[in-house]
Amino acid sequence: MQKDITILGIESSCDDTSAAVIRHGVVLSNIIAGQKVHEKYGGVVPELASRAHQQNIIPVVHQALKEAGIDKKELTAIAFTRGPGLLGSLLVGTSFAKGFAQALKIPLVEVNHLQAHVLAHFISQGKEDEKFPKFPFLCLLVSGGNSQIVLVRDYLDMEIIGQTIDDAAGEAFDKCAKIIGLPYPGGPHVDRLAKEGNTHAFKLSKPNIEGYNYSFSGLKTSFLYLLRDKIKENPNFVEENLNDLCASLQFTVIEILMDKLRKAAEETGIKQVAVAGGVSANSALRQAFYEHAEKFGWEVYIPPFSFTTDNAAMIAMTGYFKYLNREFCGLDMTPFARVGNSNFKNEARQKA
Ligand code: KG4
Repeated sequence: MQKDITILGIESSCDDTSAAVIRHGVVLSNIIAGQKVHEKYGGVVPELASRAHQQNIIPVVHQALKEAGIDKKELTAIAFTRGPGLLGSLLVGTSFAKGFAQALKIPLVEVNHLQAHVLAHFISQGKEDEKFPKFPFLCLLVSGGNSQIVLVRDYLDMEIIGQTIDDAAGEAFDKCAKIIGLPYPGGPHVDRLAKEGNTHAFKLSKPNIEGYNYSFSGLKTSFLYLLRDKIKENPNFVEENLNDLCASLQFTVIEILMDKLRKAAEETGIKQVAVAGGVSANSALRQAFYEHAEKFGWEVYIPPFSFTTDNAAMIAMTGYFKYLNREFCGLDMTPFARVGNSNFKNEARQKA
């Protein structure tokens, strides 16, 4: 990797304001400011998220530079999340990045958030025994807003070969968790409670869709109907069966995810398999990856927790690869909310 290229990454796509510094592929700092303001609403409120980003962005960048031990004049380029995400939130990071790059007279690099989740696998922490995926590899990208299987041919050459047609896996966790009264985001609570539950206590429906695509809306409905019927018989059903409900839900989500991933691995013949996005923090999903490695000879890659949820280190890392490829953007670059609105040749793109 080329030396002395120092990239500042800015991430503000949803409810985390993050800034990170990466120098020749090694992370020097990765500061993440979460937003507690959304908890009481049971989900992210876009307007509140943009306001919080406005408050957080300067202190977070300041802290990232300080922790990296560098002066802003040492920066080579600034990379920012262009989308997909909440438009008001993206505008804060985008505008900040443009202003800062302009003031420092350095190049600006726009980054696709989803591509960055995949490239988080290449962030070095400067340790000796680090292991990075080899091309081509498959990446299961699972977060609150996305569930995709990405075929990665090179750093900047990737293709989405399967994706959800409705809810994302994290959304399924969060929505079902909300129904049984767990706080937002529900995924980590389900994970925790499922450890004490029986995975086969309740049978939930699994989708039957083509190719490598996913669907989670049927599971959510079957969870809702199960509760409706059981609560009629016993008003305390949820409280009395909380752990079993979480274990059965988690088991089904993971079966759905792994069934398609296994199919993709079999049909492409690829055995390098990675996972990315917030849901990859799930302990049962991680376990399923290790079991598949053992059973099917996969070489699996699971990033450290700090690089799985939304973070700017992955934005800076992607910015680094794009910088090496001389892929810069101008001040007229605007953010995009949805994947379909992006038109960049090298970013994760939908299959025609
Ligand atoms: O990538 P991410 O941080 O950002 C968004 O896409 O918003 O992912 C957040 C998602 C949420 O849906 C959250 O419930 C889920 O990741 N999540 C988990 C776990 N930790 C976070 N889901 C299941 N088990 C977990 N341990």
